[in-house]
Amino acid sequence: MIEHNISLKPYNTFGIDVKAKTFGRFGSVEELKTLLNDRDRGMPLLILGGGSNILLTKDLPFFVLKNEITGIETVDETEEQVIMKAGSGVEWHAFVRYTVEKGLGGIENMSLIPGSVGASPMQNIGAYGAEIKDTFVSLEALHIDSLELHTFNKEQCAFGYRESVFKRALKNQYVIVSVSCQLTKHPKINTSYGAIQSEIEAMGVREMTVDTVSRAVMNIRRSKLPDPKVLGNAGSFFKNPVVSKTVLKQLQQNYPDVPHYLQKSGEEKLAAGWLIEKAGWKGKRVGKCGVHEKQALVLVNYGGATGNEIYDLSTAIIEDIRSKFGVTLEREVNIL
Ligand code: FAD
Ligand code: EPU
Repeated sequence: MIEHNISLKPYNTFGIDVKAKTFGRFGSVEELKTLLNDRDRGMPLLILGGGSNILLTKDLPFFVLKNEITGIETVDETEEQVIMKAGSGVEWHAFVRYTVEKGLGGIENMSLIPGSVGASPMQNIGAYGAEIKDTFVSLEALHIDSLELHTFNKEQCAFGYRESVFKRALKNQYVIVSVSCQLTKHPKINTSYGAIQSEIEAMGVREMTVDTVSRAVMNIRRSKLPDPKVLGNAGSFFKNPVVSKTVLKQLQQNYPDVPHYLQKSGEEKLAAGWLIEKAGWKGKRVGKCGVHEKQALVLVNYGGATGNEIYDLSTAIIEDIRSKFGVTLEREVNIL
C-alpha cells in the first residue's frame, strides 16, 4: 500500500517530525521490484531501515521505502563454520542474538547496535573490537534502475572505518536485500576492549561464552548510550578523526594525555568524544537538543527539536573543535 504525506516521526530514532511525500513498504524482493518499477522516476528515493543513522532536516519530497524483508537461513555449514544469510529488514540485534543462542561466534561484540541487517554494511558497523567486515561474506543488492540482483563480495564493498562503496561510488544506486556472514563453531572470545573484561568480572560469570560477551556488551552499552525510545539520538553523531602522526604530535604538545589509537595505515585515530568533552560540550543543552551527559559523541533530542537545530549544534561543535584542536570532525549520521 502506498501512503502520502505521512509523518516519519515513528521511523527515525531522533524522533524528528517531518513528512514523507510518498511512503511504501516491501517485505520481499518481488514487492520491492514492483514498487521501484511503478514509481515516479522524478522522485528521489530513501531506503529506510530502522532510521537509527539519519537526521531528517526537512519534509522529504521523496518516495520513502521501508524495508521489511525478514528471514534468516543457513546457506553453508562445515565442522568449523556456518554461513548465515539474513534478510535485510531483520533487526541487526535479533540476528546477533540468533547466532549467539546457537553458540556461534563472530558478531557477539556488536550486540545491541540498533537498526537493520541491510544497513550494517553501509557504514561497516562496528563496536567493541569488531566490525561487520570481519565476518562478512557477501551481500545481495537490487540495482534501483535495472532491477537486477547483484552479489557483492567483501572486496567489492570497499569497507573502511564507517565506510563502504555504498556510501561513496555506488551511493543511492542499490537496495541491499540480504547479507551473509561467516560464523564460527569454535568461537575465539575477543575481550580486547578493556571494558568487556571488567564488565564480565563485575557480572561474576566464570564461563566465557559468546553469550557472556554479548551480555557484557549489552550492559556496557545500556550504561553509556541513551535508549532512543527514551531520548532521541542516532548513536555517535561524528566519526572518530583519523590524523597523521604530525597532527598527533602537535596536539600532544598541549594535551599530552590525548587518547590515540595507531591504525594499520600508520595514521592515528583520535577519540572525538574526548575532544568534544575537553572543549566543554559534554552535557551541554542548547534549546531542545544537546550533547549527551555520558557520551559526548552522541547528540540528543530532549523532545520537539527540529533536525536543523541538531544540525546547527553539530556545526557549532565542528567549528569549535577545529579552532581549539585544529582537527575537523566529520558527521557519521546521514543528513537528509
Ligand atoms: P537507517 O538509519 O535506516 O539508514 C542509514 C543509511 O543507510 C541511509 O542512508 C539509508 O538510506 C541506508 N540504507 C538503510 N538500509 C538500506 C538498504 N537495505 N539498502 C541500501 N541502503 C540502505 N553504529 C555503529 O556502527 N556502531 C555502534 O556501536 C552504533 N551504536 C549506536 C547506538 C545507538 C543508540 C544508535 C541510535 C545508533 C547507533 N549506531 C551505531 C548507528 C546505527 O545503529 C547504524 O548505523 C545502523 O547500521 C543503522 O541501521 P538502520 O537500519 O537504522 O539504518
Ligand atoms: N571519551 C571521552 N569522553 C566521552 C566519550 C569518550 O573522553 O564523552 C573517550 C573515552 O574515555 C575513550 C575514548 O574516548 O578514551 C573512546 O570512547 P569509547 O570507547 O566510548 O568509544 P567512542 O570512540 O566514543 C566508538 C564508536 C561507537 C562504538 C564504541 C564502542 C565511532 C564514531 N563510535 O565510540 O559507535 O559503539 O566506539 O566500540 O566510532 C556509532 O557509530 O554510532 C557508535 C555508537
